[in-house]
Amino acid sequence: MTKGKINIFKPYLDVELQYKGGKSASEIDTGGKPLYKLSSNENILGSSPKALAAIREHVKTLNIYPANKDTELRAALADFYGGDMTSEHFMGTPSGSEALEIIIRAFLGEELEVIVSNPAFMPYIMFSKKQGGKVIDIPLLAPDYALNVDEMLAAVTDKTRLIFLTSPNNPTGSYIPKADLDRLIYGLPDHVVVVYDEVYFQYADAPDFTTALPYIKEGKNVIGLNSFSKAYGLAGMRIGYAYSTPRIIKYISQLYKPFLLNTLAHKAAIAALGDTAFIEKTVKTVLREKAYLYKELDKLPIKYWKSQGNFILMKPEMNDLEFESKMQSEGVMVRPVAGFGAPGCVRVTIGNRKSSKAFIAGLKVILG
Ligand SMILES: Cc1ncc(COP(=O)(O)O)c(C=O)c1O
Repeated sequence: MTKGKINIFKPYLDVELQYKGGKSASEIDTGGKPLYKLSSNENILGSSPKALAAIREHVKTLNIYPANKDTELRAALADFYGGDMTSEHFMGTPSGSEALEIIIRAFLGEELEVIVSNPAFMPYIMFSKKQGGKVIDIPLLAPDYALNVDEMLAAVTDKTRLIFLTSPNNPTGSYIPKADLDRLIYGLPDHVVVVYDEVYFQYADAPDFTTALPYIKEGKNVIGLNSFSKAYGLAGMRIGYAYSTPRIIKYISQLYKPFLLNTLAHKAAIAALGDTAFIEKTVKTVLREKAYLYKELDKLPIKYWKSQGNFILMKPEMNDLEFESKMQSEGVMVRPVAGFGAPGCVRVTIGNRKSSKAFIAGLKVILG
């Protein structure tokens, strides 16, 4: 045996690296004034009523273990997507974040590389590093956060396993036009898997926006990542899914643990998929409020970016944390996103007319 000290801690795990989520509303004391939580891209209209009904129905069965597998959700997703998609194309996960973690565990390890484009959802980097992976950042391009397709292709090596793309992107609100995505996906070698995070896809209305679906149907190494946290209003339930070729889904499903989905989340997701009316109402509200907010923001001295998501990225003249704290005093929670690779920037969630008015009123006060 080796004499001396053997380090039992993996060096890449033995570092402080945690995701700092937005504050919850209960942490804020407004002295009784109303508080608008516009800091985590949630659905201000609430949750899908069909999902809530399913939760109420199944709450009586909580003494019984949930289904061992995600079979029912897979079947519901295959039905929802229709066409050539089958149960073998889907995997249910306890949130989009968990899907990310499963994919990273499945494909990354020490010595292997992953490409991201900052500003981006910070867990891509955090989870990859915790798996020992090397993170290569090819930043989005100024002025409007376009994907740097040429540099991404040039950054691919024999060790590259994953590329993270997000469209619409959190926190910038930018999206990847189909022509750019085609150029990247068709230009990649077969040993690279694209993780295409589309958790805000319902809100996108650009004519050349696309989901991962056409590439997956073609058999490309692409994994679509989705969540019920956003438009379906089920952030507190923790439920999401990944979809890809049957070969990739079969492989990542090796990491599926028994009883992984709790009964309420599983049933709520299936019911939510059938709640077209709620999604339509949500999207209509967000698009209407987005137009209102653009109109009001145009009158104010603040830089902002047009968004394909249910949120808007801004760059105030003042310090981001000071801006957050001042907006909070005005009853509006916003999110500084320096941790997502956008220093000095702040993101606000698009809600309903009441929240839009509160936000603009607060902004007018603090911008003088
Ligand atoms: C781009 C993006 N991907 C994935 C997620 C994960 O969502 P959840 O873990 O709530 O399903 C989020 C949540 O904020 C996100 O913004």
